[in-house]
Amino acid sequence: MTLPEKPLLKPFLLLLSLSLLLLLPLVDPSFRRSSSPSTTPAAPAAGAATPLLRIRPGYHSYDDYIKHQLNKTLDPRLRRLWATRDWDRKVLVFARFFSDLKSQGLLSNASRALCIGARLGQEVAALHRVGVADAVGMDLVPSPPLVAAGDFHAQPFPDASFDFEFSNVFDHALYPDRFVAEIERTLRPGGVAVLHVALHRRGDKYSANDLFAVDGVLGLFKQSDLVRVSKVDGFGLDTEVVLRKKKRPSQR
Ligand SMILES: *[C@@H]1O[C@H](CO)[C@@H](O)[C@H](O)[C@H]1NC(C)=O
Ligand SMILES: *[C@@H]1O[C@H](CO)[C@@H](O)[C@H](O)[C@H]1NC(C)=O
Repeated sequence: MTLPEKPLLKPFLLLLSLSLLLLLPLVDPSFRRSSSPSTTPAAPAAGAATPLLRIRPGYHSYDDYIKHQLNKTLDPRLRRLWATRDWDRKVLVFARFFSDLKSQGLLSNASRALCIGARLGQEVAALHRVGVADAVGMDLVPSPPLVAAGDFHAQPFPDASFDFEFSNVFDHALYPDRFVAEIERTLRPGGVAVLHVALHRRGDKYSANDLFAVDGVLGLFKQSDLVRVSKVDGFGLDTEVVLRKKKRPSQR
């Protein structure tokens, strides 16, 4: 009688072939390579994608990107945190950064100052606290009276509007070259740009680019001279870059 064996043999053979199939990728490296997802880098979304700076893929349109950014900016839980628990601490830390910049002659009470991606305006409040009265913030969502509405890829300000611009949202730029070109356009000749960036940390899920070396951002400034690069401890951002827009446009 062979009949009872067959139903047992079949599942056994099935199990055997299944386990071989599962083991194959571990045993044969060529199999593993060919079956893993394609590692060809996706075409950069746009802008200056160098090995030092990578644009994150995945945005299907500019609208899509803006919607994603708005989702963080409009998150009611985050806005409540920014307005309450975070407010004093952030204003205090920013005020310390700005008074250091004042003592180094990079910012003064008379500076017209812009904070890019200012959320509710903590940086602006800090500038006011250290005596820079003519300071304004800009973000996708306005927060009057400190923060005006504006997209850092197309600032709503005329050329040469500011003496000083600060931002710690470089990682949110989908077009980092546009982000920097807009800073250089709206700075007056001799004006100072200060960016806080992360070099040794991955941004959050709202970051649109990843910066791997400071030259990835410095190289985007076409009309400015480097003042300095230094270490900071700024809410997860570890590097402060300071540039000064040239007095005369360079011939390019
Ligand atoms: C925006 O955030 C909400 C939760 O606040 C989430 O349900 C939604 O999927 C998000 N949309 C996008 C486009 O990320
Ligand atoms: C700048 O403003 C601060 C705060 O209002 C004030 O204490 C300081 O004296 C001012 N500095 C100059 C050089 O006017």
